[in-house]
Amino acid sequence: MSSIRVLPELLISQIAAGEVVERPASVLKELIENALDAGARDIGVVLDEGGVRRVQVEDDGAGIAREDLALALARHATSKIASLEDLEAVASLGFRGEALASIAAVARVELTSRERAAPHAYNVRAEGGGAERPAPAARAPGTTVTVSDLYFNTPARRKFLRTAATEFGHCEDVFRRAALARPELAWSLRHNSRVSVRLKPQPLAERAAALLGREFTDSALAVEAQAGGLRLTGLAGSPQAARSRADAQYFYVNGRFVRDRLLAHAAREAWAELLHGERQPAYVLFLELDPRAVDVNVHPAKTEVRFREARAVHQFVLHALKRALSPSAAAAPVAYAALAPASAAPAQAALGIEQPLAAYQSFVADAARPAQLAAAAPQETPPLGYALAQLHGVYILAQNAAGLVLVDMHAAHERIVFERLRRSLEAGSVQRQALLVPSVFRAEALEVAIAEENGPTLEQLGLEISAAGPTELAVRAAPAALAAGDVAALARSVLAELREFGAAQALAARRDELLAGMACHAAVRANRALSLPEMNALLREMEATERSGSCNHGRPTWYQLTLSDLDKLFLRGR
Ligand SMILES: Nc1ncnc2c1ncn2[C@@H]1O[C@H](COP(=O)(O)OP(=O)(O)OP(=O)(O)O)[C@@H](O)[C@H]1O
Ligand SMILES: [Mg+2]
Repeated sequence: MSSIRVLPELLISQIAAGEVVERPASVLKELIENALDAGARDIGVVLDEGGVRRVQVEDDGAGIAREDLALALARHATSKIASLEDLEAVASLGFRGEALASIAAVARVELTSRERAAPHAYNVRAEGGGAERPAPAARAPGTTVTVSDLYFNTPARRKFLRTAATEFGHCEDVFRRAALARPELAWSLRHNSRVSVRLKPQPLAERAAALLGREFTDSALAVEAQAGGLRLTGLAGSPQAARSRADAQYFYVNGRFVRDRLLAHAAREAWAELLHGERQPAYVLFLELDPRAVDVNVHPAKTEVRFREARAVHQFVLHALKRALSPSAAAAPVAYAALAPASAAPAQAALGIEQPLAAYQSFVADAARPAQLAAAAPQETPPLGYALAQLHGVYILAQNAAGLVLVDMHAAHERIVFERLRRSLEAGSVQRQALLVPSVFRAEALEVAIAEENGPTLEQLGLEISAAGPTELAVRAAPAALAAGDVAALARSVLAELREFGAAQALAARRDELLAGMACHAAVRANRALSLPEMNALLREMEATERSGSCNHGRPTWYQLTLSDLDKLFLRGR
């Protein structure tokens, strides 16, 4: 073995660069953070060939003094902290004093800067390490950092770079994250000499509309919560604005974009009940707290954080989001509470809707009772009123104290079934009903194996599935609430879930998605004619069901048109 020796400075920086400078986008991130730390109000980004040829950031911030220019490129040189106390309370985005040095070790760097009071700018260049002497240059106050030919001296790393289009995509992500966090600043992005984005200072909602689309902002709910030194603000996408990919989730801690499992988990939970299956919420959220309560010095790239009071932070974020997304704020335009007369609760109890109803068909059995109630106490109209008619097999029209209620019967029924499955699963297992004739379907060998392995889980979910042959499965029992639906399709979707996520996940983290998927298979299909008693039974079920104001996919299930809405429609009383 060769003897131990101290590594040369350049090699040390190149090793460090491995952690900080992964690709052009990481260079861009560091340069933008420096501009923000310098108090810039206007930040211009210029990229060539996805940033591989050039990443340049111009700012109008505080600038760097002539004598500090070379130091800025030296390792462990920073103006941002001086002591351990500073580190523990760090409020700037940078503090390690190594970003520029690392970049200079693997690229050509040119720094031009002018302090506000200085008569002119100075310029230094560095190529693979140490900087030259500063030379006078022309520039308005502020700083321009140009990084060219990334990895020109480390060809092994250069091989890892992707196409210019891919690298540009990563740079755009970095730019978007930064510009979303600081809507009060002006930003621009040019790629290959063409202006790609130009943003003037604007309120957050407008900035989010410009970068994430109107679809998100038009229905987004404002978040504003504060408790015990924690503050959460921003925009929470309504369930309607959910996406199929998790590509619009922006979480910032003290202004820093982070990918944090704890925060992501809190957000997932807050939306879980409102979203179905693979739908991903969209959000732009800012958590602020005492810098001493969070450690950002976990990894050189600083996208991970560690909270001192992780549980408290999780609970705070979860509840703040749940409140912002609560049904009264999110779903139907008229709040339930405002409609329900004080006497509504006992009236509902008298209807016996607390008892689990077997299947959709069983609405018929209970349907006579609302009529009796109406006869006994005609003045006490239930919140959603009494059904008048069914429209095109899709909507129920009902009359309540305030006016007309429109119900999407498919969406409403799906929600009811979902909540019922959830309650019974929480109480132990879903109530099963044996099928007179088992439903047999073709399955892959893997599905057969999964069905056999997961007997107890399936039983908990109200299913009994066994092999009928090497490539055939038979459903012998199904959840009572779903037994009348397409049980084979139901079984298939549950098996698919178990195959992808495993039983433990399916019953815990993904329980609501699983149940929502199951509920889909039972709900009243459109174009099914309902009798008035059946419709009334559905309305009463809705009143007794939590969160029935929106369906599992986040769409509203009912809508109130008040008499005055109708009067306005007909220009009455004007
Ligand atoms: N755009 C800029 N405007 C003003 N000063 C700058 C700018 N960019 C860099 N500097 C100065 O150069 C120093 C070194 O920057 P560098 O990014 O290497 O380290 P840092 O920001 O202090 O820490 P980190 O490594 O965590 O980013 C900074 O501390 C700052 O004083
Ligand atoms: Mg920095």
